[in-house]
Amino acid sequence: MPPPTPTLLPSLALFILFIFSSSTTSNAHNITRILAKHPEFSTFNHYLTTTHLASEINRRQTITVLALDNAAMSALLDKQLSLYTLKNVLSLHVLVDYFGSKKLHQITNGTALTSTMFQATGAAPGSSGYINITDLKGGKVGFGAEDNDGKLDAVYVKSVAEIPYNISVLQISQVLNSAEAEAPTAEPSQLNLTEIMSKQGCKAFGDMLKASGADATFNENIDGGLTVFCPTDPVIKGFMPKYENLTAAQKVSLLLYHGIPEYQSMQTLKSSNGIVNTLATDGANKYDFTVQNDGEVVTLKTKVMTAKITGTLKDEEPLIVFKIDKVLLPRELFKTVEAAEAPKASKSKHKAADAPESDAPAESDPADQSADNENGVAGLDGRRLVMVLLSFCIGVLLM
Ligand SMILES: *[C@@H]1O[C@H](CO)[C@@H](O)[C@H](O)[C@H]1NC(C)=O
Ligand SMILES: *[C@@H]1O[C@H](CO)[C@@H](O)[C@H](O)[C@H]1NC(C)=O
Ligand SMILES: *[C@@H]1O[C@H](CO)[C@@H](O)[C@H](O)[C@H]1NC(C)=O
Ligand SMILES: *[C@@H]1O[C@H](CO)[C@@H](O)[C@H](O)[C@H]1NC(C)=O
Ligand SMILES: *[C@@H]1O[C@H](CO)[C@@H](O)[C@H](O)[C@H]1NC(C)=O
Ligand SMILES: *[C@@H]1O[C@H](CO)[C@@H](O)[C@H](O)[C@H]1NC(C)=O
Repeated sequence: MPPPTPTLLPSLALFILFIFSSSTTSNAHNITRILAKHPEFSTFNHYLTTTHLASEINRRQTITVLALDNAAMSALLDKQLSLYTLKNVLSLHVLVDYFGSKKLHQITNGTALTSTMFQATGAAPGSSGYINITDLKGGKVGFGAEDNDGKLDAVYVKSVAEIPYNISVLQISQVLNSAEAEAPTAEPSQLNLTEIMSKQGCKAFGDMLKASGADATFNENIDGGLTVFCPTDPVIKGFMPKYENLTAAQKVSLLLYHGIPEYQSMQTLKSSNGIVNTLATDGANKYDFTVQNDGEVVTLKTKVMTAKITGTLKDEEPLIVFKIDKVLLPRELFKTVEAAEAPKASKSKHKAADAPESDAPAESDPADQSADNENGVAGLDGRRLVMVLLSFCIGVLLM
């Protein structure tokens, strides 16, 4: 490694700050509470909550909310959009960058395009979902959706709250018009899960859900928040012989094991590693698995195997559907299957696959213990990395 130059210091310090800040999973800000102090935004605040946007805003670290007062909201509500379309329109008013009132008036070259939550959640088609912010004559700042023919519909009114660089809430004069955001959207409860799957490479899994009746449980859980992991068609094809060996009840448990009764965005999965319960969980430590990210890759680890998330089929809170590269095998089902096989054969033939299980320290409850170990080791690695970096920095400082 070449000797670090003094210019490296600020970036190293920033990097360490980043490591510390990204390890905190909970955010300090609460948009509902911020807006509650300002009754002129009560309608806007109400709809941020009912569309679930508030929780998404609170999860984000660096965000700007373009708030609409009750009069501007009433003009928007006159359009009688469905709640889910309204969500798209409001998410266009959430910028995934920090704009304090100062920065607003000091935009490089006087104009900028900035990404919004509408664009970031993948709901926006193509490159729509960007907002044009332009410094106008007389100190005014104009705002317009990029797909609005260059028209800047709204101007900046005032700063409502600024917590640099976590969240900024700025009032703008009126709603930003966007044909893309206002396009009719299917309501999640009308979303046909098996249809979404069959159109995007997970037809076989969708068929299994229907054939087993497990689809009913998935559908019942959509409104309250649901995350689904579907193994792709080639994966299911290879798994079929094993699946056919399961009883009807075991098949249902296996399928329910692929759903979490909670909306978990990709960002949440990346930032909050740990054990999650599934739709199959019927008691403590039953049918759970561990979410663990490895750089940009999110893995799902059961006691039997590890799968990777390879894509997103649908992300429309409260429903999100991910593609995975393996069938999730719960220890509750696949331990018994393998124990029933001849032990000698399994040792030599499937050594790699069996290793995590047979290495578990105690037969009485191997799962709990190794789960704790895994978490402990992961935590230690993180701390070790920070320590190494810290001592490196101190070393550089002393030079
Ligand atoms: C900004 O967010 C970070 C991380 O969530 C938090 O630790 C910090 O307290 C927040 N800053 C303020 C001023 O609230
Ligand atoms: C945010 O604030 C509102 C109102 O004070 C409260 O009901 C809600 O539970 C808070 N949300 C979080 C995540 O703390
Ligand atoms: C500002 O304008 C200059 C000259 O047109 C251009 O080179 C530069 O990339 C622009 N900067 C930004 C941030 O758009
Ligand atoms: C923003 O809109 C204004 C007015 O239509 C236009 O002149 C400007 O080029 C746009 N800025 C960007 C970055 O697209
Ligand atoms: C979903 O669509 C399929 C056909 O694509 C249909 O057979 C099924 O009944 C639909 N399910 C629901 C819950 O509407
Ligand atoms: C299915 O079960 C039978 C009998 O228990 C067993 O011999 C066979 O290996 C199993 N097949 C698969 C693919 O697990």
